[in-house]
Amino acid sequence: MLVRVGLGAPVEQEDLDEFAQLAESAGVQPAATVTGRRVRPDPKYFVGSGKAEEIKRVAVDCCAEVVLVDHGLSPSQERNLEKLIGLRVLDRSALILDIFAQRARSHEGKLEVELAQLRHLSSRLVRGWTHLERQGGGGIGMRGPGETQLETDRRLLGERVRVLGRRLEKLKQQRETGRARRVEIPIPSVALVGYTNAGKSTLFRALTGANAYVADQLFATLDPLVRRVGLPGGSPIVVADTVGFIRELPHELVAAFQSTLTEAREATLLLHVIDASDPRRDERIEQVNAVLEEVGAGDLPQIRVYNKIDRLEVQPHVDRDGEGEVRNVWISAARGLGLDALLGAVAERLARFARLRRVRVPARHAGALRARLFAAGVVRRETPADDGSIEFVADLPESEAAELARIPGVEVLEEAMPATAQQPCAADGGYLQLLPSTRHA
Ligand code: GTP
Repeated sequence: MLVRVGLGAPVEQEDLDEFAQLAESAGVQPAATVTGRRVRPDPKYFVGSGKAEEIKRVAVDCCAEVVLVDHGLSPSQERNLEKLIGLRVLDRSALILDIFAQRARSHEGKLEVELAQLRHLSSRLVRGWTHLERQGGGGIGMRGPGETQLETDRRLLGERVRVLGRRLEKLKQQRETGRARRVEIPIPSVALVGYTNAGKSTLFRALTGANAYVADQLFATLDPLVRRVGLPGGSPIVVADTVGFIRELPHELVAAFQSTLTEAREATLLLHVIDASDPRRDERIEQVNAVLEEVGAGDLPQIRVYNKIDRLEVQPHVDRDGEGEVRNVWISAARGLGLDALLGAVAERLARFARLRRVRVPARHAGALRARLFAAGVVRRETPADDGSIEFVADLPESEAAELARIPGVEVLEEAMPATAQQPCAADGGYLQLLPSTRHA
């Protein structure tokens, strides 16, 4: 069952609806809702003692298995409520962490979420919680470390936190050194970010299609929800889906959020997906931007994608600013409206990042680098020489050009011509044939 009190203001239906959605995302069905209003939280129960009794009554009546409170509770408030009600009580942080635990995909993301969960739990581990040991709580809050919590004492928990912390540190170092050594050519990446339920996953599926080109070895380290898509004109990009953003994201969770958003932080361009039919859409946009800022993705170029226009009777269209730069694209991911315009807008924004460069590769690296350049789909022309070396003309962003230039013997030469002047080279069974058409009519 769900509990939310309005602090100094009545509880709004939209907040309740969203909380119910969160609960459902975590895999529980809300059986009842109790709301209330207070000037400030009660130190003992957060809600008043009368309200706490009411929660208990309602919980018994509807046979609730777990009580979800849409606020941050102190460990003692949580414990006092659990004692009074006789059920597991989870606050908003624990609920969001539970959802993260289900959604974290990368190894690093999983570790970070587990660490945040353990930290959250460790402040709540005290004698006396064992009265709840046998209750499943519908599985919620019991996933991940929750499953072992009840057999674990503080000392073991502290040890686990230290082990995870060390492992994460090592992973981060490996990632950094890996990046420094990498000689592959990443193709531009576009991350879908947005408020939860805005339609990111629907858009991701619409853009990548069922036959999407699934990561080959070049992207073997990437998460499964990264797919390659062909832009109009043939240039490939990778598109990444990310976890949805949520209002009132507790501060302790931002670190966990950060790792699940690695894709966003490292993207060339963000597509900020917005539910255009949400009456609170402007508020949501601000909330998403605030979190992006917090995770270090605030300065990345962004196109706002207003989704669900089918609910507004708006036609797909593109808004530009005074300088002609694309700002907003209005689409319906579910209906497949405006997707071509969106891909066109992405191609237009990305065209500014890559430049044509001449890359001379010595014979000893020719095989490996040729394969990578072609796999990345950036080659416009190649000219092999008698000594086994090859000269390529390729679309390369500044950073990748610099990375290539660090490989001994590789020369990155002058800019050849404007990036939009030619179509990419499809010779040699080039990537144009390898990429499925992913655009929707
Ligand atoms: P999170 O996973 O919570 O971050 O959500 P999400 O942003 O990935 O949203 P998702 O794609 O799961 O879509 C949320 C809901 O919006 C689903 O019920 C979709 O069917 C619906 N939806 C997505 N796109 C459209 C659209 O263009 N029109 C309408 N009417 N509904 C849409």
